[in-house]
Amino acid sequence: MKKVLSIAAATMLVSGALMAKEVKIGVVLPLTGPIAAFGQTSKGGLDIAYAQNHKLKNGDTVKLIVLDDRGDKVEAATATKRLIDKNHVTAILGEVASSNSMAMAPVAEKAKTPMITHASTNPRVTKGKKFVTRACFIDPFQGAVAANYALSKGYKTAVVVTDMKQDYSVGLSKAFKKAYKKGGGKVLKTVFINSGDKDFNAQVSTIKALHPDIIDFTGYYPEGALLARQARAVGVKAPFIGGDGSGFPELIKIGGKAVEGFMYTDHFNEAAAKSPEAKAYVKAFHAKYHKAADSMGALAADAYGMILKAMNECIDAGKAPTDKMCVNKNLRGTKNYHGITGVINIDKEGNAVKSAVVNVVKNGKFAYLTTVNP
Ligand code: PHE
Repeated sequence: MKKVLSIAAATMLVSGALMAKEVKIGVVLPLTGPIAAFGQTSKGGLDIAYAQNHKLKNGDTVKLIVLDDRGDKVEAATATKRLIDKNHVTAILGEVASSNSMAMAPVAEKAKTPMITHASTNPRVTKGKKFVTRACFIDPFQGAVAANYALSKGYKTAVVVTDMKQDYSVGLSKAFKKAYKKGGGKVLKTVFINSGDKDFNAQVSTIKALHPDIIDFTGYYPEGALLARQARAVGVKAPFIGGDGSGFPELIKIGGKAVEGFMYTDHFNEAAAKSPEAKAYVKAFHAKYHKAADSMGALAADAYGMILKAMNECIDAGKAPTDKMCVNKNLRGTKNYHGITGVINIDKEGNAVKSAVVNVVKNGKFAYLTTVNP
């Protein structure tokens, strides 16, 4: 009897190994187009995380299916649908721009497929959704961090620059203004731009006439860099402060001297990263890319790690890692996850509660200023 059993057990083991499956995770990123740097840096971090770990506890192999949406909302939604319907992915990672994640979220929600955005910070991305989670903080938090930092440095009057085309910018402007006013600051005016604009003559003339202590720029780096150049060209001396959408090497490449002193809130700065998780990632990043680790890649790696953890927890509970309900429940229930970008706790709404850093452009490089806890 004993022998029979062990043969049966051995057979089970063999067939178990043979049955090791592929578990698919879909990834939607802007790999080309105007915000390609967002997608490329996300992919850079994801590649490191994937190389380090792509096996689940039960021997299944994780496969990534990466689609480029060219930074377009309609394409982001289409890619999401395709990943779910044609590729049968268990979970989806993406997007970066809040507007694009907001186009994806209803698709994932309808198909009851867990989606995690690593970088979209607008509260509406997860609002009212059961299947959408994020690995980053939200804009009411980073807007308040920027406002309070500005006030703490004695900048009492501000002009806010809002990109009307980006939900991210609209929401972040609102958050900044609320906290800035609450802290005793005065918002002199909000001026509007649109992603893709190149000429900010009207806006910089308005700013110049108002003499603000500080300019709060809540858009993305392509416009931020040009606006800063044009502002300096007409003699505007006020410093800039922005959000996570500003902190890209392209800001400095395009902005040059005009962005010296440009401050912004961000998710991660390797200079301040002390945890073992962050140190290991930074080491691998340097070895592979020979440059400083950016926050976007670190966020993507964290979102990926959170999906793997959720899948492994399903296996522990005797469920399949492809059980979308189970994976979603574990993702939404993430507590005390020691990520690269910090310790991540997911709240009731699917948002990560975690710290932010403030950085500044100094001598043509991004320098760390401070860390702010929630
Ligand atoms: N937070 C931005 C958004 O929601 C995206 C972003 C994240 C950009 C991190 C740069 C760095 O649209």
